[in-house]
Amino acid sequence: MISPQLSHINPNPSFPFSNSTFPQSLPTKTLKPHFKPKPTPIVSVLQYNRKPQLSGETPRVVVITSGKGGVGKTTSTANIGLSLARLGFSVVAIDADVGLRNLDLLLGLENRVNYTAFEVINGDCRLDQALVRDKRWSNFELLCISKPRSKLPMGFGGKALIWLVDALKTRSEGCPDFIIIDCPAGIDAGFITAITPANEAVLVVTPDITSLRDADRVTGLLECDGIKDIKMIVNRVRTDLIRGEDMMSVLDVQEMLGLALLGVIPEDSEVIRSTNRGYPLVLNRPPTLAGLAFEQAAWRLVEQDSMKAVMVEEEPKKRGFFSFFGG
Ligand SMILES: Nc1ncnc2c1ncn2[C@@H]1O[C@H](COP(=O)(O)OP(=O)(O)OP(=O)(O)O)[C@@H](O)[C@H]1O
Ligand SMILES: [Mg+2]
Repeated sequence: MISPQLSHINPNPSFPFSNSTFPQSLPTKTLKPHFKPKPTPIVSVLQYNRKPQLSGETPRVVVITSGKGGVGKTTSTANIGLSLARLGFSVVAIDADVGLRNLDLLLGLENRVNYTAFEVINGDCRLDQALVRDKRWSNFELLCISKPRSKLPMGFGGKALIWLVDALKTRSEGCPDFIIIDCPAGIDAGFITAITPANEAVLVVTPDITSLRDADRVTGLLECDGIKDIKMIVNRVRTDLIRGEDMMSVLDVQEMLGLALLGVIPEDSEVIRSTNRGYPLVLNRPPTLAGLAFEQAAWRLVEQDSMKAVMVEEEPKKRGFFSFFGG
């Protein structure tokens, strides 16, 4: 997980912060590596005049996870899922956050969820009755595992989710291109259930030390589960705080976790507004900064691409937020 460059400055080769050495309240400045990485060429520049090339076998089963709660997993699932649908791919989003389901709210589909996956497994309804098709993008469907405020149903585990994914693959409508699973916070039974059918993961982190420690733990668990393809989204980034050295830079985060960077999403009040309206950000016209960042992350997910972080604090006058996008 740790990049090879960091291993020579770190006595603990497994991760910059082992459980014993992890600082409890560390000023972000001390987290900075003592070297400046060599500038690397930009891998790709997004080209909006073409359709992204779908890479890998379908369905791509992607779990959106984090460890720490409240970092933006559900927001990312809704926005990336709808971006993929807008790009023309068929998408099924599964809300696997059993007790605290809210993907339906963010998508504005809460009044249309009549059946859940639990009822499908019990034989009380058919799978297509539990799938809620979005009226805005008909190639996007939502499947909720259970009713809000219910507990993880007895007997509902990883095998049940694998059965559901297999059932989605063999539907008469055809196999979806993407199955995106919104994972609950934490690393208990709900997390294990949510990651079981996935073959790739998107780890959502915020640039703070608690989120990073949880993300590192989750990365280890994902790898133990056989998920090797792990990319990360750095959410709620504020360039003003990074410049003032009050927030870790994206480059720092990337060097600490050593994961491919799928996207960088700025802190944006429009995210909260869109959450409350049940109208995902990527549908807003004119697009917002965070909405564009989610769209670009979706594009990279399709092409199995990643982006390079740059040091915003190096050239404060020249670089703005879009410098994250490798422009
Ligand atoms: N980039 C952002 N800018 C501003 N607010 C954001 C951003 N991303 C997420 N939020 C806000 O953070 C809150 C938590 O987001 P969200 O529900 O997506 O997190 P989560 O990881 O799914 O939480 P949980 O672990 O409880 O499931 C929401 O109110 C959301 O609007
Ligand atoms: Mg959530």
